[in-house]
Amino acid sequence: MGTKKSLKTINNLKIFSGSANLDLASQICKYLSVPLGDVTVDRFPDGEINVKVNEDIRGADIFLIQPTCPPVNEHLAELLILIDCCRRASAERITAVMPYFGYARKDRKDEGRVPITAKLISNLITKAGADRVITMDLHAAQIQGFFDIPVDHLLSFQVISKYYESLNIPDLVVLSPDVGGIKNARLYSESLKIKLAIVDKRRVGPDETEVGFVIGDVKGKNVVIVDDMIATGGSIVQAANILKEKGAKDIYVGATHPLLCGNAVEKMRNAPIKELAVTDTIPLNENAKSLGDKIKVLSIDELLGESIRRIHLNESISSMFAEP
Ligand code: R5P
Repeated sequence: MGTKKSLKTINNLKIFSGSANLDLASQICKYLSVPLGDVTVDRFPDGEINVKVNEDIRGADIFLIQPTCPPVNEHLAELLILIDCCRRASAERITAVMPYFGYARKDRKDEGRVPITAKLISNLITKAGADRVITMDLHAAQIQGFFDIPVDHLLSFQVISKYYESLNIPDLVVLSPDVGGIKNARLYSESLKIKLAIVDKRRVGPDETEVGFVIGDVKGKNVVIVDDMIATGGSIVQAANILKEKGAKDIYVGATHPLLCGNAVEKMRNAPIKELAVTDTIPLNENAKSLGDKIKVLSIDELLGESIRRIHLNESISSMFAEP
């Protein structure tokens, strides 16, 4: 009887993907040994999004893979429409799997007459019919609280730090490019058993920051800068430059979400950075691929696949991040 129940549960797991990161969705399905769900996501002639799920999903436990990376609004609208579609097709539970959560930077009113867009997006996802959310390395962890449904906030540091461990770089120090990133950098410091340094970064405009000084010993050290995302590349390049000024040796970068927009790729090419390690929460844009050996993509497919498996079977997620 028990076996029958668990088999039925496993059979009810279905994974669908919007158009944002089909490669990642396929890899997750491979990990879980389930086929990628059959869905049509295309456009009407006027650009509106047209979605149809081409298989029976009544009573199913649905996981929709869709990072809201550029083009952000297109991918967000696809996700909302996919959720609505699954809800109306009588899915039992719908989980929005957003390895990258766009619009996260507007998470508070830091001046008058501005929106809290991250809250608005959370409301839209919930209102569309999502029952839970899986996301990774949120720009601000408190965005979890914008949802009144369960949010599993995964961390990529294990994947990135394992990579740096395998490189066996001597005299390595981990650096946070701003005060907000200290908690993340500390995870690396603890798992790699290396010292932590911080750059004092101040925002001087919406897309502009300046760095003051480095706290910590970086002279003659190899340094890995860790961050949640690379958008314009400004934060990383400023940190790399000041590290060089302070006498650091080789500089590496470990970042979760490689947005690499505007002229970020050129900045990375010309910066005093030996190698950039990023994850596949979002696909690399064509320009970023031209960085060749300077960029290394680490997959978070197993981390997401295992999380989906555990959520489906009501097993613990937090134990995945516990100390061995
Ligand atoms: C800042 O608070 C974030 O952690 C990132 O450092 C920042 O969003 C990266 O943006 P950019 O690449 O444009 O400097």
